[in-house]
Amino acid sequence: MSQEFYSHARLYDLMFPGGGAAVDFYRADAGRHGGHVLELGCGTGQKLIPIASDGHPCVGLDFSQDMLAEAERKATERGVVVEWLQGDMRDFDLGRTFDYVFITANSLLHLHEAEDLVSCLRSVRRHLAPGARFVFDVFNPSVRLLAAADGVRRTRESSSFMDPERGNVSVDVAEVYDAPAQVTRGTWYLSTDSEPDFVVVPLEIRSIFPQELPLLLRLGDLRLVERLGNWSGQPFAVDSPLQLCICEAA
Ligand SMILES: C[S@@+](CC[C@H](N)C(=O)[O-])C[C@H]1O[C@@H](n2cnc3c(N)ncnc32)[C@H](O)[C@@H]1O
Repeated sequence: MSQEFYSHARLYDLMFPGGGAAVDFYRADAGRHGGHVLELGCGTGQKLIPIASDGHPCVGLDFSQDMLAEAERKATERGVVVEWLQGDMRDFDLGRTFDYVFITANSLLHLHEAEDLVSCLRSVRRHLAPGARFVFDVFNPSVRLLAAADGVRRTRESSSFMDPERGNVSVDVAEVYDAPAQVTRGTWYLSTDSEPDFVVVPLEIRSIFPQELPLLLRLGDLRLVERLGNWSGQPFAVDSPLQLCICEAA
């Protein structure tokens, strides 16, 4: 579940500052669809706070109290109202339905077992109002890249960041791919010159392969309406970075 990774919410936002194409996509899509919005695995609210600021009643559910506390702090600072709930997307009952439900930034891939994925999708289905949309994005697994994970610790320049409290933080990652489980098992190391490895945390992410995805959805009583391959809305293709899936109740 990689819970420890998400117990450093302030660092998460510095490492993955958000904004950009994903926020624009969900904001526009939720805007077109309208109504009550639910995000599962909402983290620090990088997508949900902008959507709520557009006037949609929003609920964000996340496992991590630390991420939710940061989300609440940011929303309050911006004068935006969101209902933040601690819960497990594998099985939840909020006692109401929503017009737009989404799971972004590979959050769904924290569920490693097929049973957990199906249970999550069934919970989503129970929360869809008539005509509602369920949208999620997961990366498009490249067998070549997965197989290249060799367990060697390497600096990931693209993730390094400036922390106003600590200075420049470099990020190293060591990953192996557990093929039978379809899970990439990584360890992330955060360091400054004066504080090497001040954070060392595991991060384990499943892959969902293109052919299993519609089957999982079907088991969750959902239907894949359209699969896009990037944030500009191009159709999914073999070399697409993403599987951006638009779904509805089956
Ligand atoms: C990659 S972050 C994405 C956060 C946010 N959606 C964003 O776009 O920045 C994944 C989030 O999923 C949450 N998460 C992981 N497993 C979960 C579960 N079983 N139930 C609810 N949230 C979960 C983590 O706590 C974390 O906040």
